[in-house]
Formats: sequence, C-alpha cells, structure tokens
Amino acid sequence: MTLSLNRDSARLLNRGIGKEMMQSGKSIFDDPAVFLGMAMSLKESGSADQAVKMAKAALAERPDDAELNAVARTILSDGVHTYHQVMLADIPRNVAYREAIDRFSEGKTILDIGTGTGLLAMMAVRAGAKHVYACDRNATKADLARDIIAANGMSDKITVINKMSLDLDRDADLGGGVDMVISELFSANVVGETLMQALAHAAEELTNPGATFLPERCAIMGALAECKARPDVTDVEGFDLSLLNERLKKDTMVSVPRGDKFQRGPGVSLYDCVFEPDKPAPDSDKKFTTLTSDGGTVNGVMQWLRIEFADDIIYENMPGGDPLCHWGIRFEPFAKPLETKKGERIKVGCMHANGELVIWGNS
Ligand SMILES: C[S@@+](CC[C@H](N)C(=O)[O-])C[C@H]1O[C@@H](n2cnc3c(N)ncnc32)[C@H](O)[C@@H]1O
Repeated sequence: MTLSLNRDSARLLNRGIGKEMMQSGKSIFDDPAVFLGMAMSLKESGSADQAVKMAKAALAERPDDAELNAVARTILSDGVHTYHQVMLADIPRNVAYREAIDRFSEGKTILDIGTGTGLLAMMAVRAGAKHVYACDRNATKADLARDIIAANGMSDKITVINKMSLDLDRDADLGGGVDMVISELFSANVVGETLMQALAHAAEELTNPGATFLPERCAIMGALAECKARPDVTDVEGFDLSLLNERLKKDTMVSVPRGDKFQRGPGVSLYDCVFEPDKPAPDSDKKFTTLTSDGGTVNGVMQWLRIEFADDIIYENMPGGDPLCHWGIRFEPFAKPLETKKGERIKVGCMHANGELVIWGNS
C-alpha cells in the first residue's frame, strides 16, 4: 500500500516500526499487529481518517487474509457503537424527524450535526433540500456516512465533513452559512452529548438570519417517583460495602422499567431548551419546579425527554409510552425518601454543566 503521509503519520513512521518496514521493503500489511498499533497511534494523534484509509486499503488489497481483515474491521468499527441499531429501530424517533424534515427542507441549505449513518441528511435531500452539509466528529462514522450516502446515490447533494461542529468554518466548510440545522445529539439526560454547546455555536456562528432548527426545542421532563428496582449493596463476603450506595453514579443506579407503576405524579418540564438563530441556547442556570404528588412514598424523580419540532410534531419517551423509544428513563434519587399526601407539592431543582445533569429535591 502506498501511504500519503501527513505530518502525524510521518512522525509515527519515523519513530520506528514504519521506517523499518519501509527500509526492508515490507508492506505495512505483513504484520497485522503492527498495522493495528499504527492505526491506533494515528487515531490518538488526530489522524483517524488516515487509519480508516489504511484499513479500507487492507481490505481491498488482501481480501483473503483473515487476520488482517479482522484487524481492519476493528479499525473501521471504532466508535460505531451498537446503540445505532436500537436508535435506528426507534420508529417514533425516525417518524418525528422525517415529518419535520419533509415539512421544512424544501430549497434549503442544511447542516446535519452528528450525521452518524447519514440518515437525516438523506431524508433532507429526499425532501428537496438544495444541499446538505453533514458533519460527524468521528472519522469512522464520517467515512461510513460517505459510503452509505454514495450507495443511496446522493453524494452530489451531501458533503460529509469529518469535524466537530464547533470546529466548522461557515465560509470554508459551509459555503457561507446554512438556512437550517438538523441535529440528533440527545442522550437520556438530554445534555450528555454536545447538544448545548453545539447548537449555541451553530446559532451564533453557522446560520443565516431566520434559520430553522430541527428540533426547535426540547424539555428535560420529570415526575415524582418511588423507585426500588435494585436493593442497596450491604454485606458481601463478610465485608460491609454499604458506602458504595452513596457513591454509585446516580443515573446508572436504577434503571426504571417502562410502565407507570413507579410514577407518583404527573410529568412536567424541569428545563426547557429553545434553539433559535442568533441566540445561544440556555446555559447552565439553575431551574426550580414544583412537582405534585399522587400520594405515597416518593424517593426521587424519574426523568425523560420531550423533543419538539413543531406544535404538532413531538417526540416524548414518557413512562408507559411506546416500547420502541430507545432512550432510557432515568431516576435521580433524593437524599431521603418522603411520605407524601395526595396533592402535596415538592420543590425540585435542576441544573446541568459539561454534559452532566443534576436533579435534587426533598424540600
Ligand atoms: C445519536 S447519533 C445520531 C446519528 C444520526 N444523526 C441519526 O439520527 O441517526 C449522534 C452522532 O453525533 C456525533 N456528534 C456528537 N456531537 C457532535 C458534534 N458537536 N459535531 C459533530 N458530530 C457530533 C456522534 O459522533 C454521533 O455519530
């Protein structure tokens, strides 16, 4: 394989292995272990796109080398997590995006932030978009999106860019700014991916006046709950491990089953995020909300998400909702359980910073 070397890969090759191989006239594909090491070093040094190119060349040049193929596939699946399968099987999600994209895309220049497989970018082209710029921070996914888009005959209408949206330049990358931003950067706690920073940056730096945001708003939803899905850790093999209970990461501590049997009151928005052109998304200010109890024991808040594309196009993975909704419902425990009366009101606080969401209550 002939490599086109950039500064990083040249530095790597000069460090040893690659140089030795070149001098001995050996191919970089002759030793799959060395090849894997080089690919991972390229990734670490910010040249993951080169690693992807090398892996694809390995598959093309030596299709019958099982070991090399396994190594190449490891490189090509780096960051392509299985969550994509459940996410793409979330039909309510796909339908909400498709309906909104069909309604708003005609004639527009669009930025799809976090394109993944390229699905939303292709929906936009099918709905009549003038051109779509589709970015993904992950090199293997950007490459995958390029291949999927080509396989669907849309390469002339979609430009895939392997960049974090925060690093995009409106002129150099986006031809001068976009009329619409599509994004699906939601984690179960809403703020966990780069959602807030990415959309604030897009609103301020990348959009034309009057640009449309899909979705245009979202809410962090919450309801009082009693959750006892997993018992506390106490004695294990004669040792007291109970201090673990206080330190367990809250959102993984209890996975709330679907169905409303733990819910102890109606769901309301704990935090509204509105995405608008020329206006940064709300930052990490604190919000307080009063939640009403149906009565009984309350030991925390169940939390889910509501994504709004237009007044009549809304996705919500509420408890007891469609089982195809793939985002989990989270539980944030209070410091102490409360015995509540029907109609009793409990004040709950909510704030986020750097992708972490914190909910507290009990007053
Ligand atoms: C949840 S997936 C959505 C994939 C696809 N848009 C869909 O809806 O099927 C989010 C993708 O966004 C990418 N990503 C997250 N934040 C990003 C950012 N600020 N800029 C570019 N890519 C980002 C991740 O690498 C991931 O591929």
